[in-house]
Amino acid sequence: MDFFGQALRLCIVGLGAGGLAACEPRDPPKDAFRRTGQVIALSGGDGGAANACFSCHGLKGEGDGEASPRLAGLDAAWMHRQLDDYASGRRPDPVMGPIARHLTAEDRRAVSAWHAALPTPPSAASSISPVGAKLYHQGDARRGLQPCAVCHGEQGEGGGAANPPLAGQPPAYIAEQLDRWANARRRNDPRDVMLHISRRLTPAEIDAVAAYATAPASRPLQAP
Ligand code: HEC
Ligand code: HEC
Repeated sequence: MDFFGQALRLCIVGLGAGGLAACEPRDPPKDAFRRTGQVIALSGGDGGAANACFSCHGLKGEGDGEASPRLAGLDAAWMHRQLDDYASGRRPDPVMGPIARHLTAEDRRAVSAWHAALPTPPSAASSISPVGAKLYHQGDARRGLQPCAVCHGEQGEGGGAANPPLAGQPPAYIAEQLDRWANARRRNDPRDVMLHISRRLTPAEIDAVAAYATAPASRPLQAP
């Protein structure tokens, strides 16, 4: 039965149930055309071309090396949650907020699954930073700072949907996230782990550990 036939049948059923309200004209069902994750990444979905993920996150989901993180190979559930949080404002962001709000729940699932399945891009080399390496692998017990590696992996590979990878992310993006937590501008960390950590770091330490964390596997530990 085509859509109009179905609408007519619903109308008749509605009349049988004693109501005229069911005869209101209906729009075609929203999921009549299901977009694949790839179509959303390339077209931007309802938001149009300006929202096309690839224009900032790259055709291979590799990121832009600056503000836009890599999405390729990230956990699908992690990305889905970030999109929900951008849309609701729990992770406020002037760029991603409006983009996420244009995506339906099914769009967010599909586009996250598509990026998750892309191969992880190789990490770009970042500057050697003894301060960053020490914080990353050893932390600073005197200030109650656990090593980043405990949760994000010795090689920055992350650990499941809760602890995202840092390897392959742009240093500027990582530094920006630490800065936002420290100033409570990012608030979607379920247990405020990163809020407490970021507040104990100086701005210089944030830059050093951000530079190191993007490629911790690519060099030996050089703790001073
Ligand atoms: C105009 C550029 C732009 C476009 C288009 C764009 N993004 Fe983003 N995206 C960003 C920036 C910038 C950030 C980092 C924002 C922040 O600091 O929180 C980001 C962050 C993200 C994150 C968070 C990743 C993480 O690990 O925390 C996800 C997920 C994401 N974008 C998905 C998408 C998807 C899916 C699309 C397409 C529907 C898209 N983005 C389109 C610029 C863009
Ligand atoms: C005790 C565990 C733990 C430690 C130690 C830790 N992190 Fe995290 N980190 C997390 C969790 C959990 C999240 C995800 C928070 C959320 O859900 O919003 C996170 C998220 C992040 C993100 C956001 C990535 C993205 O794509 O959105 C960055 C950047 C980050 N951590 C950097 C660091 C750095 C640098 C250190 C060391 C100075 C560190 N973390 C130490 C648990 C930890």
